[in-house]
Amino acid sequence: MSLLAPRETDKVTFPVLAGKKRAGSPIAALTAYDYPTARIVDEAGIDLLLVGDSLGMAVLGYDSTLPVTLEEMLHHTRAVRRAVRRALLVADMPFGTYHADEAEAVRNAARLLKEAGAEAVKIEGPRPALANRLVEAEIPVVAHLGLLPQGVHRMGGYKVQGRTADAAEAILADALAMEAAGVALLVLEGVPQEVARRVTASLRVPVIGIGAGLQCDGQILVLHDILNLTFTPAARFVRRYADLAAQMRDAVASYADDVRARRFPAESESYHLSEEARLLWDGAAKER
Ligand code: KIV
Repeated sequence: MSLLAPRETDKVTFPVLAGKKRAGSPIAALTAYDYPTARIVDEAGIDLLLVGDSLGMAVLGYDSTLPVTLEEMLHHTRAVRRAVRRALLVADMPFGTYHADEAEAVRNAARLLKEAGAEAVKIEGPRPALANRLVEAEIPVVAHLGLLPQGVHRMGGYKVQGRTADAAEAILADALAMEAAGVALLVLEGVPQEVARRVTASLRVPVIGIGAGLQCDGQILVLHDILNLTFTPAARFVRRYADLAAQMRDAVASYADDVRARRFPAESESYHLSEEARLLWDGAAKER
């Protein structure tokens, strides 16, 4: 295939995802935060790509999502936008950018669409009034309920939510309220699978689970978790599909060994003067 050939673009949109829910066809979603990984994820056929504020831990070295700024989200979403052709591109609204007042939240969300090319924003927690305001401003919204990483201090850690009948009922009520407010999709994190199954069956919009069992309309995980590019113990719901950290360490150590043993670069990896230029230059050197 020529490098210039256009890539296949059977573009994923919210109606496409809603169709998948109706057809019972599971939706595969992942995070990505930069151009090369987003390009690989998109070319591998992932349906929804989230520039999550998990970028704080996955690539920026923060110990939670709380320090992530809007500028950081814009910067990474732009890089991902340049890579993605097919997947639906969603960007997280970081902590503090939609909590103070709705007008400011609309302005911040609009920047993620207008300046970075996101197709929707994701907000954490039950916020039907804000969701409705964003939808009225033509900003598609993804809701995030259950375990809310931005609420880590309130929850007292990253803990499974909805474990009691009352708590499960509250999550269902919140999900229905967010759907009524116009959200296009729900991410449901860290809840018992019975809760996820009921929420999924009760909503018309797709429900994408993370640590929420098999009965959701789709699944999302953090790319760096499935590739083992993280430095903290993985949550129970993470499945490792590759150990890129080990592969990268081996590759880097081999490179360093080759440099120190003068095995790198080889002849074929070096440039040469033409015979003519070499003779002229040698002659010039002798005259000096
Ligand atoms: O920030 C994030 O990566 C998320 C998850 C749902 C994957 O919100």
